[in-house]
Amino acid sequence: MDVRAKQILFKMVFGFPNVARGWFRPTSSQPFDSYQMMPAMFSYKIDEDTKLSLFELRHAEKLNALLTQNYEHIREWSAWLKDKERHIENTQEFIKRNLKQFAENNGFGICIWYKGEMAGQIEYNYLDWTNRKTEIGYWLGESFQGKGLVTKSCRVLIDYAFNSLKLNRVEMHCGVENKKSRKIAEKLGFREEGVIRQSGWLHDHFVDYVIYGMLSSEWKDKNQSK
Ligand SMILES: CC(C)(COP(=O)(O)OP(=O)(O)OC[C@H]1O[C@@H](n2cnc3c(N)ncnc32)[C@H](O)[C@@H]1OP(=O)(O)O)[C@@H](O)C(=O)NCCC(=O)NCCS
Repeated sequence: MDVRAKQILFKMVFGFPNVARGWFRPTSSQPFDSYQMMPAMFSYKIDEDTKLSLFELRHAEKLNALLTQNYEHIREWSAWLKDKERHIENTQEFIKRNLKQFAENNGFGICIWYKGEMAGQIEYNYLDWTNRKTEIGYWLGESFQGKGLVTKSCRVLIDYAFNSLKLNRVEMHCGVENKKSRKIAEKLGFREEGVIRQSGWLHDHFVDYVIYGMLSSEWKDKNQSK
């Protein structure tokens, strides 16, 4: 990690409101207040029940427990979830890697909270600055499904990608048979752009993925017409 990246991460973690204020300001209708910000640093309130925040090391135990309890459910569509027996050290390493990726301006994972409970994760898998695009991924604990949490969270990350990061394109890649995930992309108005055959190895077989895309201009049109 270069010196500049370390400085940014240090400021984010130890709280310089001016830096933090620029974070998660998805729309001008939801101005950030630095005083409200202080008690729950680096968090973004979507509604009374739902909040997003950057993963921190102190979340490792909760995240480990959520992944362990929901192993079968998440694993069905997530190639990265390998062993059922999860060690806290692996989860701590994941959080550290995530913070490093964030400091390097290369993507980051966000924790989804529902009524104070850790519910799942949403992330920018990468930030491609050359082509000004990203890909969003997500998962929820089984009992947190059906509440629209991922759809709401996607809206925040899409707004942030286009309005703050000034990206031009957001993608979602869904397994052809992952109907719930595809429904989320479709509800958000993403265009189905094609199927990449056998493009991912999922534990013991190849999976065809549908590529959904949203352009900055299309997102602005959709949100202006509301
Ligand atoms: C994908 C995931 C995040 C969806 O969670 P969710 O948004 O709470 O899911 P919901 O149960 O609300 O379903 C989303 C939509 O799909 C619809 N849906 C559910 N089952 C469906 C099915 N079998 N066929 C078609 N649509 C379906 C729901 O009705 C809902 O649409 P609606 O809001 O218009 O009613 C969650 O299932 C998950 O974590 N899965 C495991 C990990 C994963 O698949 N990650 C995505 C990898 S691309």
